[in-house]
Amino acid sequence: MGRAFAYVILGGGVAAGYAALEFTKRGVSQGELCIISEEPVAPYERPALSKGFLLPEARARLPSFHTCVGDNEERLTPKWYMEHGIELVLGTRVKSADVRRKTLLTATGETISYKILLVATGARALKLEEFGVTGSDAENVCYLRDLGDANRIFDAMQSCPGGNAIVIGGGYIGMECAASLVINKINVTMVFPEAHCMARLFTPKIASYYEDYYKSKGVTFIKGTVLSSFDIDSDGKVTAVNLRDGSLLPADMVVVGIGIRPNTGLFEGQLTLEKGGIKVNGKLQSSNSSIYAIGDVAAFPVKLFGESRRLEHVDSARRSARHAVAAIMEPEKTGEFDYLPFFYSRVFTMSWQFYGDNIGEVVHYGDFSGNTIGAYWVSKGYLVGSFLEGGTKEEYEAIAKTTRLKPAIEDLGELERQGLGFALTV
Ligand code: FDA
Ligand code: NAD
Repeated sequence: MGRAFAYVILGGGVAAGYAALEFTKRGVSQGELCIISEEPVAPYERPALSKGFLLPEARARLPSFHTCVGDNEERLTPKWYMEHGIELVLGTRVKSADVRRKTLLTATGETISYKILLVATGARALKLEEFGVTGSDAENVCYLRDLGDANRIFDAMQSCPGGNAIVIGGGYIGMECAASLVINKINVTMVFPEAHCMARLFTPKIASYYEDYYKSKGVTFIKGTVLSSFDIDSDGKVTAVNLRDGSLLPADMVVVGIGIRPNTGLFEGQLTLEKGGIKVNGKLQSSNSSIYAIGDVAAFPVKLFGESRRLEHVDSARRSARHAVAAIMEPEKTGEFDYLPFFYSRVFTMSWQFYGDNIGEVVHYGDFSGNTIGAYWVSKGYLVGSFLEGGTKEEYEAIAKTTRLKPAIEDLGELERQGLGFALTV
């Protein structure tokens, strides 16, 4: 048995929700569009899971954070999809794809065919087992990618008030979960292999600004080492974490954030891959002209850098989704995707934004013992990246605009002296 649709979105995350809204704005007809998602709920704003969802009070819960509220757009509830004649196939994993026949086979045995496919399968959390450590399936070891994971973290927190959490990984998940755990009055120790937190983006100076703040909130940092094993009791619960440096940390719960892998498996050997994702052109179209890829799984050309990137951030998921749908529905009117990479995070009462690329030389500015700090990255004589913590809406807009303009920088000392003022006057 099977169904056929003009457009199928494979995956039901952030990119899927924004693509669905764009399809309706561009006049998709009832019954033409289908979304297939392994998750049991309609697309939602994934960033809420490490922030509002984990708060002790005024917790964010669905349906409040369905897409597309994160970009001040309509909130697409299951009712909205029904009213717009969009078929939501939830709780259903696609287990194989045949790009020649243009069909998808679901785990429930249904074949769904498409004329155009948007691959929005995102990514999965890397498991400790992939680094040779066992114990991920213990009841109090948590990862964080989807709603089920967030519920597990929430329940684990509730079950050990005032207890000890070990956070493995010093990236986005580690930093945001550590903050949420502290807000829930759990004692937090962060363990990661690098010399400082957020090593993929932060400079040592920016990292130490945040680490000092976390320390003032009671967080302990153990850097330059990784865990080697868990102590697990007869109930299957982790009681302690053993580190490679020989130390042993008592644990009531563990949160692991050690990176992701894009979900490309269905298309390996069928589509061209690049940078771990599905290679697409400036219209988000893959090596097969009937298939587009958007969000975390897509490696797309970033015009500003003159090279392809695969980005793992929500703004890129939202915008690549919109652009792909525009390219599908109005190909003549739609040019190449011209994206300025934008990342952000919010922890405690802090909030930062980053635009562009973090390569080349760095110039810091601001009062590193105060509330507003920033940095510019300068490569081959041009400003290519900007970071700002504690800015106003206007200041964030200014650093975004400046980074997009890629101004020539002759004097790094002068840039440092001007600091945020440089972006405000460009
Ligand atoms: P996403 O992961 O959202 O969706 C993929 C979907 O595909 C899922 O529904 C999945 O179940 C489905 N799927 C996969 N394979 C399938 C199959 N075979 N069959 C059926 N369905 C399948 N970014 C940022 O810029 N700022 C932030 O503050 C945050 N915060 C944040 C918090 C947390 C907890 C996470 C996990 C991530 C963030 N991010 C973020 C990153 C951001 O959420 C991420 O970049 C987007 O969700 C990517 O959107 P996609 O739609 O590409 O993947
Ligand atoms: P990440 O890539 O940000 O960080 C991974 C971290 O894992 C590294 O910093 C490192 O400290 C650690 N690590 C690597 N190997 C390890 C090992 N063997 N043992 C212990 N630690 C190890 O990935 P993440 O924090 O897991 O985040 C997952 C995804 O979610 C990313 O795509 C991220 O962009 C996204 N996310 C984004 C935001 C945001 O943009 N604000 C927030 C949450 C999640």
